[in-house]
Amino acid sequence: MTISLLNQLSELVGQVFVKCDLDSKHGKVVLSQRRELGQFQCNGALAAAKIAKKNPREIAETIRAELEATSLFSELSIAGPGFINLTLTDDFLTGHINDLSADPSFGAQHGRKSETVILDFGGPNVAKAMHVGHLRATIIGESLRRLRVFLGDTVVSDVHFGDWGLPMGLLIKEIEREQPDLPYFNEEMKDGFPERSPVTVAQLQVLYPAASARMKEDPEFLEEARKATFELQSGRPGYRALWQHMLDISITETKIDFDLLGAHFSEWKGEADTNEHIPSMLQRLNASGFSEKSEGAVVVHIAEESDNKTMPPLILQKSDGAVMYGTTDLATIEIRQETHKPDSILYVVDARQSLHFEQVFRAARKCESIGKNVHLEHVGFGTVNGKDGKPLKTRDGGVVRLRSLIDDAVREARKVVIEAGLEERFDAAELDDIATKVGIAAIKFADLSNQRMSNYVFDLERFTKFEGRTGPYQMYAAVRIKSMLRKAKDQNLTEGALIASKDAERNLMLALAMLPEAALGAAAKNTPNILCDHVYTLTQEFNAFYHDCHVLGEEDEAIRASRLKLCAITLRQIETVLELLGIDVPERM
Ligand code: ARG
Repeated sequence: MTISLLNQLSELVGQVFVKCDLDSKHGKVVLSQRRELGQFQCNGALAAAKIAKKNPREIAETIRAELEATSLFSELSIAGPGFINLTLTDDFLTGHINDLSADPSFGAQHGRKSETVILDFGGPNVAKAMHVGHLRATIIGESLRRLRVFLGDTVVSDVHFGDWGLPMGLLIKEIEREQPDLPYFNEEMKDGFPERSPVTVAQLQVLYPAASARMKEDPEFLEEARKATFELQSGRPGYRALWQHMLDISITETKIDFDLLGAHFSEWKGEADTNEHIPSMLQRLNASGFSEKSEGAVVVHIAEESDNKTMPPLILQKSDGAVMYGTTDLATIEIRQETHKPDSILYVVDARQSLHFEQVFRAARKCESIGKNVHLEHVGFGTVNGKDGKPLKTRDGGVVRLRSLIDDAVREARKVVIEAGLEERFDAAELDDIATKVGIAAIKFADLSNQRMSNYVFDLERFTKFEGRTGPYQMYAAVRIKSMLRKAKDQNLTEGALIASKDAERNLMLALAMLPEAALGAAAKNTPNILCDHVYTLTQEFNAFYHDCHVLGEEDEAIRASRLKLCAITLRQIETVLELLGIDVPERM
């Protein structure tokens, strides 16, 4: 496994600091912002000088002399009060890129302790079509899942269906209103229920808003729905059978969306999977004094003295016996601890649920539901807004469905690729495939390239542009390299040892060498935007290289062979990073 170039240099320079009786931490090397002064920079002499009470320039000078003796640098200089500028010999640089190209993780896995991480994302709800909020949960969650797999972690991904609260009771009662003679409502009947669902997903999506409106007008209906929820949770056979139908058809429906978005789940669990565990959990929390009764409900107090905002208790059970969102989430933590012994659990859910997660996490710690060192994190995200700056709504003010967003994006992408003349070059099937990939890439890159917590404006015209910081452009850059490499193959041109003959080549190599920092940085803070920045830098540096250096037309055979190899490595890295973002690259476009 290759070690990242920055780590390798920092180690090397760190050792030189140690040799001069200074702390190795001052040897930290970073990529230079001012390439004309050097490829890298080390600013540690300043801090080291303060501690050693010496002149920083003198320290820098000693370090420089030591580094010069290694013959790994073609240029070493000191700027200002003691900044050290470093430029690698071409041999060192090409040697590193060569090693990197043989490592599937481009050096990102080196020295990293892998962990077991559970990613909770997607989070659809029974009977409700997935909406724009689930779009972000799915895109960000899937990207983090792919990133962790890439880094060598053991990853469990759970879709965590919303399938157990009052909405279920409301639906049961609404279906009963419409079809009272169905066997599911017969209390005497214990089994032998029909195999086919009495309702379709489309009907559920109408029934739910109807029930939810009725509940607001009719307190009696609400009361019945509450009772039905409790009876469902207590195992009433007819309700369980009807509920199972609703869950099954909802799963089938959401799988279509998840397939379109390329999201993968190793577990299709939901809130309801905690039902067996909840009674013993409630008993334990009660016996250990972690929970208490409050106005008929069972709660866990989680407020702390240091709080500067009010922290309401987590309600585990209401006075009518029904359990809540927080109860199923706490029980899910206990089940996950037991089944997977995770190092981390990450919840990719709308930032507006932050209070809920803070309550659940505090309760989990207080009630010893989770191992002491397990990291629990709510990976929140901002809202998707319309051009008016307000959360995206349909024309008549309704929630925007995830599917319609994808359809719109693919339609816009098709328009753009047809304008670019692709209709003449490809048959209908391939054109469809390209338009779909461009549309999905547009949405994903636009979403992931923002700071996760910021809101952003959904603007398909901007997202589908074939220039700048867009998904389609990054994808197009990869396709162009693919087509060039195909031509090289047709002409029997082969790759050869890397040579750095121009700065554009060196700059591209330096960009390639930064993959470990990008991947590890994105994983440390759960921020895929760092990967977007990295792929954008790569495509920019590749453009500059391609502008400056002939590849197929290069006369010098060794240089041409080297450039072909550099193109192949660049393509592989761009494709790898796009894959981490969930973006598929077509063969041609
Ligand atoms: N179903 C929830 C929603 O639509 C998201 C679930 C998130 N995961 C969790 N463990 N609470 O808002």
